[in-house]
Amino acid sequence: MGKQRVLSGVQPTGNLHLGNYLGAIRNWVEGQSQYDNFFCVVDLHAITVPHNRATLAADTYTVAALYLACGIDLDHSTIFVQSHIPAHSELTWLLNCLTPINWLEDMIQFKEKAVKQGENVSTGLLDYPVLMAADILLYDADRVPVGEDQKQHLELTRDIAARFNHLFGQKDEEILKIPEPLIRTEGARIMSLTDGTRKMSKSDPSELSRINLLDSPDAIAKKVKRCKTDSVRGLSFDDPDRPECHNLLGLYALLAGKTKAEVAAECADMGWGQFKPLLAETAIERLKPIQERYKAVMDDRGYLESVLRSGREKAEAVANRTLSRVKDALGYSKPL
Ligand code: TYM
Repeated sequence: MGKQRVLSGVQPTGNLHLGNYLGAIRNWVEGQSQYDNFFCVVDLHAITVPHNRATLAADTYTVAALYLACGIDLDHSTIFVQSHIPAHSELTWLLNCLTPINWLEDMIQFKEKAVKQGENVSTGLLDYPVLMAADILLYDADRVPVGEDQKQHLELTRDIAARFNHLFGQKDEEILKIPEPLIRTEGARIMSLTDGTRKMSKSDPSELSRINLLDSPDAIAKKVKRCKTDSVRGLSFDDPDRPECHNLLGLYALLAGKTKAEVAAECADMGWGQFKPLLAETAIERLKPIQERYKAVMDDRGYLESVLRSGREKAEAVANRTLSRVKDALGYSKPL
């Protein structure tokens, strides 16, 4: 039996942050040799909210380069750009026509983002989970490694695939493979540096709320210095009244590669004045090799383009096969 297939992606909306890295990309890298992996820069998703046309292409290249810099290995993985493969948009349309609209209206992220957009909510924002389902289903993915915030979208993807198979499959035929989410417990939900009850997010207006993978050492030190803490002496995990403390200790554990128990013991008697420089230093050291590799990749634009070109070729062949299967099942005539 061949390896199981993995598909995942990140939106090219500005810089990636530690939530994206620890919740998703780190897991892609650690698991990649076990699977046949497809990692996509999901630039069609990036225009579901108002976007900057002047930076979209550059941001797309940045994210692809960061995949490589974080350790995605082309011997195991294919990297490509979503908008380079028309099958993503086409399957979205086909799936739209069998997805009940109330399934989409129930999505938590839609409700949250719609509130932020006020009156300018686009149809694309509502439809975004169907595009995500198309991304996954096109590649017959067995596993989808994501952070906790994408869990509901994965459940929707499974529901859409099951509905399609039920309506258009002959007997028990699985035309669309039903994927499993792959969500690790540690790092699945990294919280904001300025509010331990809110997710670290690219759309938070405050830069101080997140550490970006490409932040300079000075910027990291400043953000950690200014992050929200409390006035309790000693540091511990799991105190519901100390969400910031729990989040910062968790970040330190993940960045230092230590277990929760090791960090709990190491930090039990520390004050913030001792812990913050330790966290900042650990983050700087962990990101340094990623930043160095990122710079090397970006300095060789021809190489990056060749990675994306061969990624597109490989991904497109898989995607087009699934799309044909879906169109056959729906009863479409063959193109002449
Ligand atoms: P996006 O671009 O918002 O986030 C990319 C990945 O990072 C994870 N993540 C986090 N994990 C832990 N803590 C956080 N604070 C945090 N913030 C983000 C996300 O869970 C995600 O895994 N719709 C998706 C992109 C997408 C996709 C796909 C993913 C499009 N098609 C197909 C998987 C498969 C999104 O907007 O992720």
